[in-house]
Amino acid sequence: MFFKKKPYLPVSSGWLFSATKLVNPFFALLDPEVAHRLAVSAAARGWIPREKRPDPSNIGLEVWGRKFSNPIGLAAGFDKNAEAVDGLLGLGFGFVEVGSVTPVPQEGNPKPRIFRLPEGALINRCGFNGEGVVAVAKRLDAQHGKRKLDETSRNPSSSTDEAKHRGKAGPGILGVNLGKNKTSEDAAADYVQGVHTLSQYADYLVINVSSPNTPGLRMLQGRKQLEDLVKKVQAARDEMQWGKEGPPPLLVKIAPDLSKEDLEDIAAVALALCLDGLIISNTTVSRPDPVSKNPVAREVGGLSGKPLFNLSTNILKEMYVLTKGKIPLIGCGGVSSGGDAYQKIRAGATLVQLYTAFGYGGPALIPQIKAELAECLERDGFKFITEAVGVDCR
Ligand SMILES: Cc1cc2nc3c(=O)[nH]c(=O)nc-3n(C[C@H](O)[C@H](O)[C@H](O)COP(=O)(O)O)c2cc1C
Repeated sequence: MFFKKKPYLPVSSGWLFSATKLVNPFFALLDPEVAHRLAVSAAARGWIPREKRPDPSNIGLEVWGRKFSNPIGLAAGFDKNAEAVDGLLGLGFGFVEVGSVTPVPQEGNPKPRIFRLPEGALINRCGFNGEGVVAVAKRLDAQHGKRKLDETSRNPSSSTDEAKHRGKAGPGILGVNLGKNKTSEDAAADYVQGVHTLSQYADYLVINVSSPNTPGLRMLQGRKQLEDLVKKVQAARDEMQWGKEGPPPLLVKIAPDLSKEDLEDIAAVALALCLDGLIISNTTVSRPDPVSKNPVAREVGGLSGKPLFNLSTNILKEMYVLTKGKIPLIGCGGVSSGGDAYQKIRAGATLVQLYTAFGYGGPALIPQIKAELAECLERDGFKFITEAVGVDCR
């Protein structure tokens, strides 16, 4: 993928990543949403370190025909409006997912709507606050240029460096996570609009049917509803004129609060419709111990971070077994170390995402997780990361 370079901080080696730890206590004093806003602005301006060290070779992999230099991605919700994609990829994430993006801009729920818990967790009820698909498309267009649509294959004279990188796996992979507007009565139309406006910028697309803060959204995970929705979105994507590389893969992001029957239904739909992947999982509406004892736990919203790890990893394992390892899964929920990422991979994840731990740990966490993951693989005798996918489910 091609990104225009911004004037980044001149130093890019390890000490600058470590130095960012000094800022964490200051951020912890701020309201979580203010701290988040500052972090996104800093990343958008390039006021963050840029990773120049190569990733350990044993953590690189290819998924959907695209090369990932490492499997650690930034989950949706951090850069909802695609303001800082280049800066965030520059931190060394293997991929960054923007959104959720809704067709029409939305304020989201009243503030405060993000709450910290001492257990390395957050509760949020943001409610898809965002600038909407048109603003996000304009930003991606200005920053990254249009990709994938047939234009470069029809116009060979445009084989500049930029054109060569379009739609190819470059230093960073961009996921676009689509949501629906709160008051919209036709969910499928919302996702289709997202596809029409944003899919030409995406290395992969996500249908998010699992955020707990949009009334009725999670109902779309039901067998019939999901089947209808995925068919409509796939059709909308496939109607577009794609170049040689074909359309972006389509994934569905699911909740961790699903019964065995729900999971079986989702697996059946995913296999029948040849879905390209599942993201497991979003935040939970449950309050596992020890969080339940904290008065903040009574806040309405989705819980993320460490207390979500076991729940989301168990669901991941179940889904890996149900889908017989045939569909790439992205493991998300409570990852805060290389060991956690490794456990997700052993539980069936091909790729891993995090959000909350990045909020607490800042940029220094990313190289640390990658190094720890590489060590775990080496320790257990895996030459390539793909060898470890799902080993705990066999
Ligand atoms: C403040 C906040 C906002 C989020 N917004 C979105 C969103 O818009 N779309 C989405 O699919 N997930 C959203 N998420 C969920 C994360 O992408 C992720 O699935 C979840 O936080 C679990 O990962 P973690 O424990 O590493 O944070 C949000 C999470 C947080 C904490």
